Amino acid sequence: QLYGAARPNSAGCDLSDEATLGTLAQALHRSRAAPVAAHALLAAPHRPSGPLRTVRNPGELDDTVGHIHEAGADDVADALAVAQRAAASWAATPASERAACLRRAADALQADLPAFVALLMREAGKTAANAVAEVREAIDFLRFDAAQITDTHWPADAAPLGPVACISPWNFPLAIFTGQIAAALAAGNPVLAKPAEQTPLVAARMTALLHAAGVPRDVLQLLPGAGETVGAALVADARTAGVLFTGSTEVAKLLQRTLAARVRTGADGRAAPIPLVAETGGQNAMVVDSSALAEQVVQDVLVSAFDSAGQRCSALRVLCLQEDVADHLLAMLRGAMAELRIGPATRLSTDVGPVIDAAARDAIVAHIEAMRARGCRVWQASLPPEAGRGTYVAPTLIELDGLALPEREVFGPVLHVVRWRRGELDALVAAIHATGYGLTFGVHSRIDETIDRLTQRVHAGNHYVNRNMVGAVVGVQPFGGEGLSGTGPKAGGPLLLYRLLADPPADTVQ
Ligand code: NAD
Ligand code: ALA
Repeated sequence: QLYGAARPNSAGCDLSDEATLGTLAQALHRSRAAPVAAHALLAAPHRPSGPLRTVRNPGELDDTVGHIHEAGADDVADALAVAQRAAASWAATPASERAACLRRAADALQADLPAFVALLMREAGKTAANAVAEVREAIDFLRFDAAQITDTHWPADAAPLGPVACISPWNFPLAIFTGQIAAALAAGNPVLAKPAEQTPLVAARMTALLHAAGVPRDVLQLLPGAGETVGAALVADARTAGVLFTGSTEVAKLLQRTLAARVRTGADGRAAPIPLVAETGGQNAMVVDSSALAEQVVQDVLVSAFDSAGQRCSALRVLCLQEDVADHLLAMLRGAMAELRIGPATRLSTDVGPVIDAAARDAIVAHIEAMRARGCRVWQASLPPEAGRGTYVAPTLIELDGLALPEREVFGPVLHVVRWRRGELDALVAAIHATGYGLTFGVHSRIDETIDRLTQRVHAGNHYVNRNMVGAVVGVQPFGGEGLSGTGPKAGGPLLLYRLLADPPADTVQ
């Protein structure tokens, strides 16, 4: 029912159309002409207690995108008191009305697509294609969640949890931000949204759009600010009844520890845990055997590893090549990497934009240099001279010795390469599992037995066969990981909303 043709995904816009490109160029021009002045969106009538943050375009650091007056830890208690008071009326709002708010927001976002694309390009360093895809995904989440509470057997008597903290990352500052909020609101919960420090402006614009679409201001409050203060205070407060988190595994572990110390009163009056839905990082591998189509492999590796400058949780981190074809594939891959157009995301032809900030760039470069110092062979594409204007990292290949995968996720355009020999597939699967992550996994082969053997054995939330490994589509490819990569239920799937109820039906609990 949820996946039917009656509810198609957003079409976004056509980037091969000259008129559309003209509209985006105008939107960028308008965006540059008017720096954003935003602030925390609290329902209580006082000024936010946090500092003023300046947001710069990571690809052009001399371009100031705007300023935001952040919330401080002191605002959290007031915001939660407001949310608690608003909880009963939002829970009693008919599902059809809650869904209507989400659908109006989806329509408004589609109508405002050029302005959101311009802001994503400047605030998050997204290329045009990535920014359009992100707006589409946000629209899809809104419509998908609306459909779940109106077009399926959503229980009419479902009791929501209460105030839900939605804590989101900078790498999908619109899609994941909106997806978390849409899920919590659809299930009938008031929301306290804490966007990433790096990308508060698109979050503020989206929150204002949701308010204009009919979501009451006391039901959705925006608390931009530091994770360690505002985010931590939200999670620690006894009034927070559930947490939706997407970000690093390290922070998810911290939140899990905080929440383990707390309980809520369940629907039956007994103590129940505070639900934490955490979607985290990965050490995603793709296995390529000697039967694979070389040109297809190169095209899919390029997208999987370097699209979004590798700043996707789903991105390919470790390419596992069968020894017989490794040299040939690597030569082709280096040739293709040399053709990538690296530069400011605001240039509509750019393939690979900047990484999010100087701290991210420095950490990625430190990893590359450490691997070089360990004796690994490193190959990098060239950065253009203008890269000095922003925080760029050249797409990089690092050849590893042996089958062991790196322990930690490196969140950027860095692809590790492992060579395996006939007879080593089981050892390779063991090496993939040894990382503890389980987000995405890819296989390129024309041998059905190899595909079946790998997809049956590798523990990962999303498997991709003979294609790239990124860009899961809401409602079609529910997305989320296992082990260190996440708790589930998957985003864009039918079970997430049930986790946000006080007493989820037993057959919806994974
Ligand atoms: P992060 O963990 O540093 O931050 C995520 C959010 O948590 C931010 O809003 C941050 O302010 C907040 N935060 C930080 N410390 C906190 C604390 N002590 N208490 C409460 N909140 C806190 O992650 P990031 O750098 O923003 O995002 C990149 C990471 O996100 C990568 O590891 C990536 O793999 C992961 N990610 C996962 C998915 C997925 O669906 N699995 C999707 C996107 C990103
Ligand atoms: N859902 C995003 C992807 O699939 C993270 O790339």
